[in-house]
Amino acid sequence: MLSHILPIRLRMDVFVYGLLLLTLSKCVVSKSPHIVFIVADDLGWNDVGFRNPDIISPNIDYLAKNGMILNNSYVQPVCTPSRNAFLSGFYPFKSGLQNMVILPQAPSCAPLNRTFLPQKLKELGYATHIIGKWHLGMCKWECTPTYRGFDTFYGYYNGAEDYYNYTILNGTDFHDNKEPMRPNEYSTYAYARRADKVITQHNKSQPMFLYLPFQSVHEPIEVPKIYENMYEDIKNDGRRKFSGMVTALDDAIGNVTDSLKRNGMFEDTLIIFTSDNGGMPSYSGNNYPLRGSKATVYEGGTRASSFVYGLGLQKPNTVFDGMIHAVDWMPTILSAAGGGQVSGIDGLNMWPSISEGVPSSLRSEFIYNLDDSLVPIMGRAAIRMGDFKLIEGFAGAFNDWYPVPETEEDAKIDEPKVDYYQLYNLRDDPNERNNLHTKEHRMLKKMKERLEEYRKYIVPPVTEKADPASDPNNYNGYWTPGWC
Ligand SMILES: *[C@@H]1O[C@H](CO)[C@@H](O)[C@H](O)[C@H]1NC(C)=O
Ligand SMILES: *[C@@H]1O[C@H](CO)[C@@H](O)[C@H](O)[C@H]1NC(C)=O
Ligand SMILES: *[C@@H]1O[C@H](CO)[C@@H](O)[C@H](O)[C@H]1NC(C)=O
Ligand SMILES: *[C@@H]1O[C@H](CO)[C@@H](O)[C@H](O)[C@H]1NC(C)=O
Ligand SMILES: *[C@@H]1O[C@H](CO)[C@@H](O)[C@H](O)[C@H]1NC(C)=O
Ligand SMILES: *[C@@H]1O[C@H](CO)[C@@H](O)[C@H](O)[C@H]1NC(C)=O
Repeated sequence: MLSHILPIRLRMDVFVYGLLLLTLSKCVVSKSPHIVFIVADDLGWNDVGFRNPDIISPNIDYLAKNGMILNNSYVQPVCTPSRNAFLSGFYPFKSGLQNMVILPQAPSCAPLNRTFLPQKLKELGYATHIIGKWHLGMCKWECTPTYRGFDTFYGYYNGAEDYYNYTILNGTDFHDNKEPMRPNEYSTYAYARRADKVITQHNKSQPMFLYLPFQSVHEPIEVPKIYENMYEDIKNDGRRKFSGMVTALDDAIGNVTDSLKRNGMFEDTLIIFTSDNGGMPSYSGNNYPLRGSKATVYEGGTRASSFVYGLGLQKPNTVFDGMIHAVDWMPTILSAAGGGQVSGIDGLNMWPSISEGVPSSLRSEFIYNLDDSLVPIMGRAAIRMGDFKLIEGFAGAFNDWYPVPETEEDAKIDEPKVDYYQLYNLRDDPNERNNLHTKEHRMLKKMKERLEEYRKYIVPPVTEKADPASDPNNYNGYWTPGWC
């Protein structure tokens, strides 16, 4: 009897083992793409070539058109809150980051009790790198990138520094890992150069996560002449330089993809691109025809220029209409990397929907912002439910529609008076021109009630009180952790 059974068992074992191996190898191949997560700073809805033919961005346009344009991808109205959402999966109002960005002298950072995306990716075997802007706090080392999941860091801790001398207020803000230094070239060149180095030195048997939050195209409006000269026709000085900045960013992205190709990694890479918030018309960014600016909860401040490209996308060359919010990137990227679900966060895993190219109803509601502090800066409260959006109170400064300025005169910024409640049906009225608050009573009531439910979870904003101990003069002129 045994002699009959054994061979069958053996064959079965070999068969099962074979199947297992096959499945495993499949998993390894399909579950660990290299992931390059590119964040552009203050890039507006109308500042990309795939929407605006006056902008020269062939690399961005190629990736967007041959990948999937995310046409309903939302972010926070300003920098720090969006970046916190990207990496933690939590809303800013649950993180004390709803009111502003973290200022250089403030002894504050993104909550340390939360696991950041790169920490999770490391558990999956990823090498993790950040090149560019951090802006999630730096008063102590525990707040900084190499303590929050990144193997390497090359960039700056704060915001709005000079593109050439890397200075903000009275200090230089640049580090290579923990070493203070500064590149001696325009930051967009420096970041592309570093990305090429990281990619070239990467051990190809390991998946790579490269977080690439460029300085471009935040003010100060500075750009090498070679890019500005591509826009001789634009008379408005700011807009001409700004357009050049977008092209410099685009060139850097082209160089990063070239490097991935040269190193045989491009075909195994998933590229994600998003702005951190809308453009700022007062610094030549543009969101037209959307309403408003960076630092508002209008669509112009929060509907991002965004796309995905590469490995894992089953419907390239399409436009994805489904909603996705900044808090979703953490669980979504983790899922694309082959990780499991994350519970207890605000973010939702949109990867199945994005990879299949099929919009889902999973994300049908989100908070644009919720800030009950005495002086809200980037909008007091706004919520999305399906096609409807309710704004309660102050929506942020710069609440008009700002076409691209032709001349210097055109660039003037108006701020019309608005109603306390603004209710829009974004399906019919994506540019927020028709306030329905007196017509849609039931919807208004329902959305106000929903906002109240979210209000229970507000965490008071972190302090922005300047701490003299932050003074870079205590640290050889560099903004340096160690004073909180
Ligand atoms: C983590 O930090 C946030 C923000 O400070 C706080 O609201 C939350 O209660 C903390 N969570 C835990 C589990 O301690
Ligand atoms: C850096 O450049 C800016 C703008 O050109 C200038 O205002 C600032 O003084 C410079 N700072 C240093 C330390 O060179
Ligand atoms: C991209 O690479 C080319 C060729 O090396 C170089 O000339 C150009 O300055 C680079 N652009 C950026 C933005 O790094
Ligand atoms: C790359 O990583 C693999 C697996 O961890 C290791 O065996 C190999 O030695 C590494 N190669 C280099 C050049 O470090
Ligand atoms: C994106 O949505 C806008 C409405 O806000 C629509 O006009 C536009 O056609 C959509 N873009 C694409 C490429 O479908
Ligand atoms: C530099 O700025 C800090 C605030 O960050 C301020 O406290 C300090 O007085 C300034 N130092 C000098 C020498 O200007």
